[in-house]
Amino acid sequence: MTGLAAPTPLPTLALALPGWCLRAWRLADAPSLARHANNERVWRNMSESFPHPYTEAIARHWVERGHVDFGGDNWAIAFDDQAVGGCGLHPGQGHERCNCEIGYWLGEPFWGRDVATEVVRVLTEQALVLPQITRVFAPVHAGNQASMRVLEKNGFHREGELRQSAIKAGRVIDRVLWARLRSLDAE
Ligand SMILES: CC(C)(COP(=O)(O)OP(=O)(O)OC[C@H]1O[C@@H](n2cnc3c(N)ncnc32)[C@H](O)[C@@H]1OP(=O)(O)O)[C@@H](O)C(=O)NCCC(=O)NCCS
Repeated sequence: MTGLAAPTPLPTLALALPGWCLRAWRLADAPSLARHANNERVWRNMSESFPHPYTEAIARHWVERGHVDFGGDNWAIAFDDQAVGGCGLHPGQGHERCNCEIGYWLGEPFWGRDVATEVVRVLTEQALVLPQITRVFAPVHAGNQASMRVLEKNGFHREGELRQSAIKAGRVIDRVLWARLRSLDAE
């Protein structure tokens, strides 16, 4: 007995789309994860921590412990129980603990069906369950219009440009900051 409490298991979150949910990563997800994540069109709009090529060994590491080591709560986006994308919530620390960053990606065969819009709706709702969270935000690579539209459809506002704020593939890039405030939801 260590006296330490066991970590709370991630809840499965229903999406209002038949066959879809957010659920905890499983060891058996590695092949499907590698299949969908190993895509230059997914990788190019993700932060530098998203590997490319996304091999099955990398996928195995993610499902075994990578999703825990990464911090925050990280769900598989599942369709018919197959992991075809990923998403997460990352609460801020210290004086930024009222913030929660949101992240998401989806396998390309499923784009354009409102899935990410529904994922962001459910994740934002989940973030705002925590009473200390006043702001949910996402930095988006400049030019990622699809992701910005997903956020806009979920009541996020464009806060401004984060010029030269990140490095991607060895180049400094601009990002656009989007956020949704709890206080604005109440108005
Ligand atoms: C961004 C991403 C999550 C969107 O997923 P999705 O399930 O296709 O998104 P949805 O279908 O819910 O909504 C996409 C919206 O963007 C719009 N859109 C798509 N491409 C667009 C473009 N090039 N310009 C403008 N709008 C675009 C769609 O028309 C749709 O809006 P609408 O419902 O008003 O028509 C997916 O493309 C992806 O995983 N991309 C790679 C990783 C990534 O960018 N992650 C986000 C990092 S911030």
